Amino acid sequence: MKNDANVAIEIVKAPTSKIDSVDFENLSFGHIFTDHMMVCDYENGAWKRPKIVPYGPITLEPAAKVFHYGQAVFEGMKAYKDKDDKIWMFRPLENFKRINKSSSRMAIPEIPEEYFMPALEELVKLEKDWIKKGFGNSLYIRPFVIATEAGVSASPSKNYKFMIICSPAKSYYTGEVRVQFSERFSRAADGGVGSAKAAGNYGAQFYPTGLANAEGFQQIIWTDASTHEFLEEAGTMNIFFRINDTLITAPTNDRILDGVTRKSIIKMAEENNINVEVRKVAVKEIIEAANNGTLKEIFGTGTAAVINPIAGFGYQGKKYELPKLTDSYASFLKDALMKIQYNLAEDKFDWRYLV
Ligand code: COI
Repeated sequence: MKNDANVAIEIVKAPTSKIDSVDFENLSFGHIFTDHMMVCDYENGAWKRPKIVPYGPITLEPAAKVFHYGQAVFEGMKAYKDKDDKIWMFRPLENFKRINKSSSRMAIPEIPEEYFMPALEELVKLEKDWIKKGFGNSLYIRPFVIATEAGVSASPSKNYKFMIICSPAKSYYTGEVRVQFSERFSRAADGGVGSAKAAGNYGAQFYPTGLANAEGFQQIIWTDASTHEFLEEAGTMNIFFRINDTLITAPTNDRILDGVTRKSIIKMAEENNINVEVRKVAVKEIIEAANNGTLKEIFGTGTAAVINPIAGFGYQGKKYELPKLTDSYASFLKDALMKIQYNLAEDKFDWRYLV
């Protein structure tokens, strides 16, 4: 069966908009959704014509495989509005490539680029009024694919829904973030699905994060599954450590997500003559650096979180506070990255994408 290629996207507009009821100054992340959503079904071995329809509930059979086997992947992206009302996305083709990489790992059929990009752009254009101007305002975009075939045999679904929903966003975390280095929990093991943005990777963090919350931490940092001696990724972010003036982050592999913000930050740091080491980060090394005063910063990176400084961390029942720096790499890099995203600085790497 052929995909419905080169077809215009069908748009059914919502009869009314809820935008006037939204308090854009006090948004808590990911709770309000825009007026429309994109839906593209996979049936009989092919992706069908993408449709943009009013945002609302969808109907699935209770036997749909997504409910039983978690065959689901997602992405996180953002769109920004500049002072001239132009809308920009940040490296959207990276998200397109990654959703297909995640899909392959989860035995989900890949989405053709000629479906993903126009569907995304049409939806963002339609929701342009939901993107407020100003540093820190954005439209968070959540593409995802779920297995919809009814059946509890443990085999890949024959049918899927690729959807995109959007939510106006400010910052992901409010207030200081402290992390707990996990002594026993891991995101994934070698050969597992850690490099995929598979839904279950994030659901699996709720329990350990809840335990960490009870001890006063907002997040955990996963350690490697075989020894728990190396720091890998935080629940919702990749993670960077600054010892003296060197930035260190773990290499991507089967267990760690290849974050778009992560790789952009590595590039920007190098461009600004900051020494970056992509290598294993031992818990022991970070504790020693905290004890001898050479650990200057820890920060997380991600689309939702952007760059989030870590105020302190805990390990084996002990709490460590990080110094408050006036020359923090996290704030320098965050400002430089956001200036590119909001069309306020030169885009040397060609990362901005005009919608
Ligand atoms: C993102 O940063 O976009 C993510 O996907 C993390 C998510 C769990 C909020």
